[in-house]
Amino acid sequence: MRKLLITALVAMTATTAYAADANKEDVVDARRAYFTLLGHDMGALAAMAKGEVEYSAEKAKAAAGNMMTVASYNAAGLYMPGTSNADLPGKTRARPVIWEDMAGYQAKGKDFYQALVALNEVAGEGRPALGKALGQLGGTCKGCHKEFRAKDF
Ligand code: HEC
Repeated sequence: MRKLLITALVAMTATTAYAADANKEDVVDARRAYFTLLGHDMGALAAMAKGEVEYSAEKAKAAAGNMMTVASYNAAGLYMPGTSNADLPGKTRARPVIWEDMAGYQAKGKDFYQALVALNEVAGEGRPALGKALGQLGGTCKGCHKEFRAKDF
């Protein structure tokens, strides 16, 4: 009876530990999916801006609007402590400095959001206007990645 109880306890602890790990990896997956969505629509817009794909006001507005929808997602839950690339090497490129300087990270997020609002205002107004606003937005992506995202996994 006693042995059975111990076995059950060990099993429970093991399950809990596993669940906690799985949860962190789920958070990383969700965080990366968030940025994958942004990158997807950014790619569609860049192809139009470069002339690789014919410009369409409708499609440009839709892609810019999609990015706005993603940006309106409350991402606080994607920054669970213990999910940096120091904690989960090979799974994420999020550098620990995000958690050490959350205010600095949020400031980069604000730059991005403002550039995205500006893009949404002009996305339907022709290729040159789209290209200019997209260039500005792209600068805010790079501005954050340079400091807060590791180059490699
Ligand atoms: C406030 C900071 C910040 C801004 C702004 C930002 N990113 Fe990122 N991005 C990150 C971080 C951090 C990661 C790493 C996430 C991870 O690996 O957990 C990332 C990862 C990515 C990834 C890789 C996703 C994957 O599969 O691992 C793509 C694509 C991406 N970002 C695109 C963009 C684009 C496009 C923009 C601008 C429109 C942008 N990001 C703006 C911080 C930012």
